[in-house]
Amino acid sequence: MYSSKVIDHFNNPRNGGEMADADVVGEAGSFKCGDTMKIFLKIEQERIVDVKFQTFGCAAAIASSSMLTEMVKGKKIGQARRITNEQVAEELGGLPPLKMHCSNLAADALQDALDKYSDGPARKQGRAK
Ligand code: FES
Repeated sequence: MYSSKVIDHFNNPRNGGEMADADVVGEAGSFKCGDTMKIFLKIEQERIVDVKFQTFGCAAAIASSSMLTEMVKGKKIGQARRITNEQVAEELGGLPPLKMHCSNLAADALQDALDKYSDGPARKQGRAK
């Protein structure tokens, strides 16, 4: 059973959509189910000033993506790097054990974006690792 926060974020996702002028795009996919997530970040002076996501996945993956965008907006890159999938699940009021892996999509896509941002311009446009 999903928490009321999961249901809310699934029904009313925050920050959904594409960002044409993103500074970096992160991607993640689940081998378990084939679901995927893209995260778009706008970064100014080492701070995430805007974020959007596109997730093709289950309710838990969409809710995790939405929650993650709320957690990272306004954060410094160093703070965002410390966000884990467990924290995303916690903020959602927990996820059923079988759905815990769904929160990995969001945290992994974020870390992919931050890795690409740190690596420099050649990898910032969402190329695969
Ligand atoms: Fe694929 Fe949830 S079942 S991310």
